Order: sequence, then C-alpha cells, then structure tokens
Amino acid sequence: CIGSNLSITVVGASGDLAKKKIFPALFALYYEDWLPENFIVYGYARTKMTDEELRDMISKTLTCRIDKRENCEDKMDQFLKRCFYHSGLYNSEDDFSDLDSKLKEKEGGKDSNRLFYLSIPPNIFVDVVKCASLKASSRNGWTRVIVEKPFGRDSESSSELTRCLKQYLAEEQIFRIDHYLGKELVENLSVLRFSNLVFEPLWCRNYIRNVQLIFSEDFGTEGRGGYFDNYGIIRDIMQNHLLQILALFAMETPVSLDAEDIRNEKVKVLRSMRPIQLEDVVVGQYKGHNKGGKSYPGYTDDPTVPKGSLTPTFAAAALFIDNARWDGVPFLMKAGKALHTKRAEIRVQFRHVPGNLYKRNFGTDLDKTTNELVLRVQPDEAIYLKINNKVPGLGMRLDRSDLNLLYRARYPREIPDAYERLLLDAIEGERRLFIRSDELDAAWSLFTPLLKEIESKKIAPELYPYGSRGPVGAHYLAAKHNVRWGDLGIEE
Ligand code: BG6
Repeated sequence: CIGSNLSITVVGASGDLAKKKIFPALFALYYEDWLPENFIVYGYARTKMTDEELRDMISKTLTCRIDKRENCEDKMDQFLKRCFYHSGLYNSEDDFSDLDSKLKEKEGGKDSNRLFYLSIPPNIFVDVVKCASLKASSRNGWTRVIVEKPFGRDSESSSELTRCLKQYLAEEQIFRIDHYLGKELVENLSVLRFSNLVFEPLWCRNYIRNVQLIFSEDFGTEGRGGYFDNYGIIRDIMQNHLLQILALFAMETPVSLDAEDIRNEKVKVLRSMRPIQLEDVVVGQYKGHNKGGKSYPGYTDDPTVPKGSLTPTFAAAALFIDNARWDGVPFLMKAGKALHTKRAEIRVQFRHVPGNLYKRNFGTDLDKTTNELVLRVQPDEAIYLKINNKVPGLGMRLDRSDLNLLYRARYPREIPDAYERLLLDAIEGERRLFIRSDELDAAWSLFTPLLKEIESKKIAPELYPYGSRGPVGAHYLAAKHNVRWGDLGIEE
C-alpha cells in the first residue's frame, strides 16, 4: 500500500530551522509511531556532508519527552539509520535527478509518497520547487511541498510567488505553514468556542469589549538582523501569526471541521476587516540599555542591521472587523522583540455587568472588575477566566480571582511542538492548519497599504529600552480605544 511508503526531503538541511525544529519533530513523530511504516528522510543542502555527518549533526538536537524516556537511545539509532544526505545546488535539475535516483534506490523500487520541506530562504523557493517537481516528484503517489514564511513582503510579491509556485505545483500540493496554528492553545480555540455552551453565546459585540492579541519576546534579533531588517515585526508576526489567530477567533461557525469550510470562514473575516489607519498604529525599535551591570545592545548595534534603520521591532495596532458580530469591537495587536518577557496570549475583555448590584464594593475603577478570559499560548499554557468572588468571611469584601486551567497541572504530558502537528497534518493531507492562497492574499491586502505608508513616510519608530515594556505610545493607542492592556494587570 503506497500510504505506508513515504520519503521526506528536508531542503536546507544544515540550516537552523531544520536542526532545531524539523528533524526533532520528525523524530518525535517516529517515536510515537505516527510515521508510516516505510519512511526515509533525506537532508538536502549545498554543504558537502556524508550520511554519517548528517546523522551526527541531527543526533545532537533530538530529544525524548520527559515521560517517554524508555528505549529512547534505541529509537534514536533506528531513526538515524533512516536518515540520509544528498548535497546539491538549489537550482540544479541534475542534482535533483540524482536525488531522485537515490530516493528510488532507498524506496526499494516501491511507489512512495514524497514530501519536501523547504527550510530555505524565499528567494530560492521557486528554483527548488521547479527542480523538485520536474525531477524528483513521486511517480504514482502524492508529492507535497511545505513552505514557510516569508511569503513575499507585500501583496504584489506574494502573488508573484504564488503564481510562480503554481507553475509547478497545484494549490493542493502547497502546504503553507504558519507554525502558530500548530500551537496547542491556538488549536484549542475552536474547541473552546464550539464545544462549550458558555462561550459562544457571548462571542460578539454585545458582550465583548475588546480582544487583545499579544506576542512578546525577551530577546532581540540576535543573529537574524539580516533577515529581519527587510521585514520588520509587522510582517514577521502580525500579518501572519497574530492575524491567523484573530481570524480563527472571530470567524463564524464553519459548516463542518473540513479544511475548506474553516478556511472559507477565516477568509470572510479577513475580507471584512476595515483598512488599518496609520493613526491606529504605533511602531517602536529597541535601543541599547544597561541593567544590573549588564549592557544590552540596541537593534541597530547588530552588525547585520544597516545603521539608521527604521525597521520596527515593536508594533501595536487597533483593528476592526466591519461585520454584524464584531462591529465597533477593537482587536488590539501588540508584538515586540527585546521586551521584558516572553509570552504569547489572547485576552478577551468582557463588558461591564449592567446594573451591577455590587458596584459600590468595587470602588470607581469598574474596568478592573470586568471578566477577562485569557488563553496563554506560551509559555506555561493556560486558560483562565478572571471572575469576581466574595472573600470568605463575615464581611462583604470582593476579590478578583481566576478560574484556572493550568495545562501542566491538568495534563502532565509534555505538549507536542507545533511542527510535529503540522508535519503530521501535511503527511496525512489535512489542510485545516495551512494557509490557502486566498487567505494569504486577504492578509496581505490588509497590511500592504499600511506597510507602504509607514515606509514611504519614513515613520520613525519610538525607541524603547531593551528589556522594557515597549513604547508608551502603545498605551495611548489603547486608551484612545478605551482599552487597557490586560498583560499589564497588577494581579499578574
Ligand atoms: C517566527 C518569527 O515566525 O516566530 C520569529 O520569524 C519569532 O521572529 C518566532 O522569534 C517565534 O516563534 P515561537 O514559536 O518561538 O514563539
């Protein structure tokens, strides 16, 4: 049966992403018996390397989950025996022909499905896709290609990339990864909404005051300045990871859980979004900072970043969905590097309780008493709901408390990495978590005019110290929309 034969080629095998994420994810799938019986993994890159050298390189990054230590070494050896290496140029049809011969030999003459993971810079996507599809496609099974952002840097370049890829591949062969969609809590968003009675009826403008999508990292672009400077935080995080979460959060109930039904609903949300106004955006860039006797570099101190670069490493924006469900509800996004903490979360602030009987127990700041639902995507995954509660005792003192689902307490198993889920889905042909080309177009249509305006007007980013909470402008932006960022709550 062809379904049990699979050849996976990781193109760009010596790169960071391949080493840190792709090979470890493949091993984890193998360990848990998710891979088909007859699989092989080929690393492909320009570097000259033997199979043994590849195995040696990969073996350093493989790990076993804490709860799965049994036979781990044996499993690693068995996995590594199925890993091979082929050195070749990215634009050489001959080199891909040679790869094809080697694949055939290892496949033992059996028909096999073929999956290519492009862990390479986007300027060579099309070369590789051309060579792989012309020279190394599966004869009788499927051939699929996983690509990862950046998918262009604006609407035009993204459409051009899609057009070029489609010269060699059909849409259903292209799996565009947004690894945030593979994160456990993001996947759980739909389960929470659609399989509990208590949330979905409140999921609209009548009950929700604002929604916040927050991404922060406590390190800068260290080592990635060359890539980053050409993109900036809006393209790196907002246009894809945060916007994808927003679409999933805000979509109408899909007809079914089929990939097409879900993606149809996500596209509708994206197409209902109001153009983003420059006044509703704050951009920032981190500057050098000394703290506790240690000095932290500014963004432009990175030797790979051009001096005087205006590229934002932080952005906050207010977005609106002009449809019946979300009319007037601000969706605030905030994304930044070199901030005080590493965290990704979705925060839903609910409206005030009308005619609240306990109003006088709260003092004047009613905003602090509204319910808030938080989905902490990482680290330390959790879902918690802030509620008001009576402090036990004879008096009537109210307290803000949490109904708390802390994943590590409830589910002691280690949570699979996003790449494991996404690789498995690509192997199984499940497209739900991959971005369809019309979704990508809609995402770029929303952000391209804003990006062009920021760049043509040379908007200077507000500087913030490395390790701080980011530019104060983000607070003014939130205040303008009557919002207070939830991640700054005193009680956290
Ligand atoms: C990538 C961005 O898509 O996501 C990086 O290009 C960012 O800049 C990374 O660091 C964050 O991913 P994670 O899974 O570590 O939160």
